[in-house]
Amino acid sequence: MEKIVSLCKRRGFIFQSSDIYGGLSNTWDYGPYGVELKNNLKRAWWKANVYERYDIMGMDAAILMHPKVWEASGHVQNFFDLKSDCLSCRKRFKSEDLKDKNKCPECAGKLTESRPFNLMFKTYQGPVEESGNEIYMRPETAQGMFVNFANILDSRHPKLPFGLAQIGKSFRNEITPGNFTFRTREFEQMEIEYFVKPLDAEKAYNEWVDARYQWYLNLGINKNNLRLRPHAKDELAHYAASCTDIEYNFPFGWSELEGVANRTDFDLKQHAEHSGKELTFFEDSTKEKFYPYIIEPSGGVDRALLAFLADAYNEEKVKEDTRVVLKIHKDLAPTKVAVLPLLRNRPEIVELAKKICRDLKKIMVTVYDDTGAIGKLYRRQDEVGTLFCVTVDVQSLEDKQVTVRNRDTMLQDRIPVENLIKYLSDKLI
Ligand code: GAP
Repeated sequence: MEKIVSLCKRRGFIFQSSDIYGGLSNTWDYGPYGVELKNNLKRAWWKANVYERYDIMGMDAAILMHPKVWEASGHVQNFFDLKSDCLSCRKRFKSEDLKDKNKCPECAGKLTESRPFNLMFKTYQGPVEESGNEIYMRPETAQGMFVNFANILDSRHPKLPFGLAQIGKSFRNEITPGNFTFRTREFEQMEIEYFVKPLDAEKAYNEWVDARYQWYLNLGINKNNLRLRPHAKDELAHYAASCTDIEYNFPFGWSELEGVANRTDFDLKQHAEHSGKELTFFEDSTKEKFYPYIIEPSGGVDRALLAFLADAYNEEKVKEDTRVVLKIHKDLAPTKVAVLPLLRNRPEIVELAKKICRDLKKIMVTVYDDTGAIGKLYRRQDEVGTLFCVTVDVQSLEDKQVTVRNRDTMLQDRIPVENLIKYLSDKLI
């Protein structure tokens, strides 16, 4: 884990938030490579779950929602952890983590009785900070899709089954955040709410468990590091009839990447009751009105990103040296190509390299680097997972060919400049 955190900082994937002020604990900023990786990850999810399907539409709801949403959803009543505070050092602990319920594990001070602690961030809307103006930062994106169910029916007239997909920020005032970006208070979720006829729910649930598991494998996660863990009845959330976690073998142990739940008709019924609005589905063929069941695959962007990073991190012996290489899937790699002039003091070589870079940039994410010796430049690109390095040398000026080095095999091909775009595109698509 330390190696991954260090690579993230060294190469500009992830930084501690507000670093120059000593940092805001458990809060992270994505740097130049991190944001590319994150965008690629979200794009891959959107492509698989929206563009490649016929039955799912995307949406993007606001983070702030009517406070009644969280009463209807059960978050005001049920979304809490039990915590105890130390009367000496003032630290706060999750009661379930405490071996001795009376003694502080850090300073041995006396602990308060355990008390419920709601995990939603509360703030005030408008200029006056009074109880009528309280509002929550959403703790999940899901509710934004449930409350738009009627809008989607009225505007798009979908037939069952159909789904809504959304990616966005969520906030939880976690008592014990940690393990780098694994558990934080501000994070991004990728959620699907899939509406089905009640009798089709279990089948759809099983299909979604398989589809989501397969998505991680398709993007290169090692099968040995991925497993499914169905929930026992007594650990199911208050709204779920069944739930399976997709777990990843993180450097700190097996932990949840994503959950797939059968939420039954709980959400639509709750919102219908609290809003007084009609939220049933009218089935034209049978003239029946009913509340659809909802199957929900719900994953975390930051957790997935951490899993992809951990899985791709490799150290290889190359002669006397150790090569750190991020063997990340081509669709996720932050940079696809680096163009490197072999001699930076030869203007004709630099000029040709820059022209090749300019042309490639229009088609794929390409960088130019002439700030070191070629060995060092290769290492730098390997560490950030760049798929191909294109080297321009003296010979290139004469034969109009360049060397293309493959990140994973380190094998090199000599390619005519005029064929370069086709050569690289064929490998990337
Ligand atoms: N709508 C259902 C829901 O939100 P969840 O299991 O609480 O279910 C879904 O969250 C996913 O969101 C988790 O599997 C995880 O990937 C991510 N997630 C939840 N809390 C998180 C946190 N504090 N930090 C980072 N990711 C988190």
